[in-house]
Amino acid sequence: MAQKISYNDSFLKDIIAPGELDGYNESIASAEKMLQSKTGPGNDFLGWLNLPDALKPEVISSIREKAEEIRKKADILICVGIGGSYLGAKAAIEYMSSSFEDQRKPRVVFAGHSINSDYIADLLDLVKDKEVAVNIISKSGTTTEPGIAFRVIREMMEKRYGRKEAASRIIATTDPVKGALRKLVKEEGYASYEIPDDIGGRFSVLTAGGLFPIAVAGANIQELLDGAKDAMGFCNGSTFETNLSGRYAAIRNILFRKGYTTEVLASFQPQLHFVSEWWKQLSGESEGKNNTGIFPAALDYTTDLHSLGQWMQEGVRNVFETFMVLKKTQKTITVPKFTDDSDELNYLAGRSFEEINANAYKGTFLAHVDGKVPCATLTLDDRSERTLGQLFYFFEKAIALSGYILRVNPFDQPGVEAYKKNMFALLGKSGYDKLRNDLSSRTKNIDL
Ligand code: PA5
Repeated sequence: MAQKISYNDSFLKDIIAPGELDGYNESIASAEKMLQSKTGPGNDFLGWLNLPDALKPEVISSIREKAEEIRKKADILICVGIGGSYLGAKAAIEYMSSSFEDQRKPRVVFAGHSINSDYIADLLDLVKDKEVAVNIISKSGTTTEPGIAFRVIREMMEKRYGRKEAASRIIATTDPVKGALRKLVKEEGYASYEIPDDIGGRFSVLTAGGLFPIAVAGANIQELLDGAKDAMGFCNGSTFETNLSGRYAAIRNILFRKGYTTEVLASFQPQLHFVSEWWKQLSGESEGKNNTGIFPAALDYTTDLHSLGQWMQEGVRNVFETFMVLKKTQKTITVPKFTDDSDELNYLAGRSFEEINANAYKGTFLAHVDGKVPCATLTLDDRSERTLGQLFYFFEKAIALSGYILRVNPFDQPGVEAYKKNMFALLGKSGYDKLRNDLSSRTKNIDL
């Protein structure tokens, strides 16, 4: 097993004394024990912890076979889902695919992660002359955003293909027994996959919820799972030497307690944008509760160095930065030499974009250190599935440990209900009459 990710916090020595970090060994050991012995809060949502080992080979084969069938028969797979039922697949697909969607076959597009007629209308237009398949992903089967998007998409599919053929092109990924979607699976005869009861959405990327669309996009899901298995080895145990996730979790908590309340995950590759989005959900929804939690923000460099770079250099000093860098891209382009050199860029001629990007990273890192931002680096060896699998597991484990150090339940999301209840009441859902009355006078002063 080759470890393909590493974490370097050596530039934090001025901010975190060695003894201070050692003091967290105990916290990591006890958080790790709570996870392994299932004695911490949210202990009925720990299925992700051993999932890379526990996932049955026949489930993996069935996902691969169905994905192959869809790759042959569809130009476009529409994935309908939100939150944890969207971001993991989106992150993996953007990480491994070619940069422009038109170059992908089949294309995997997403819906149900927002509420917007224009988006849905554009989607219907996009697929009108294409062969289509649909993967509706919702653990609960009752989430409004994917629910209403799926209604429109199902109607389109049934009109276009007829009910029976449409059903053969729809795959549902949901709870093994409960929920409206599981009921629909039985009624319509959709092919289906399960998101186990003990795995919450944001920890579900390595369930069928993530694996099926990732496989349709052409990735090797076995490699992804093997990567996660590797990380089970080096993100484990009660000391920093054996537990890379533990070290990162300890560092972020020490910085948080010193007043660095926002973590910026700064990547230098466009293909990592949605990995950061996935991490934002994992971290924010797991830790932001009980009036505590590190605020997760993400920046894309060098793009954002020409936008938020000024703020990072000289703004409020309450942020710490984790740089996420890639050692090796899949292709290499070098800067051409021009005899006239009128743009004075010949000093870069013959050098690869990666060499230039690496120096952009090093320059930014040191500038931000000098600007008093605590900086550390997470390095990925390459853009392979194996590396991504390691990264997914590394972050899942780190955020679970970090949540326990923060003394919150990292596996629930009670705060998400507040907007939902209000929205249901305002839309007149039955059972919400009293709340609707309470809210109606207050909404008068809200525009729109
Ligand atoms: O992490 C979570 O649990 C959430 O973000 C859910 O994934 C999200 O709300 C979607 O839920 P569901 O899959 O039940 O539609």
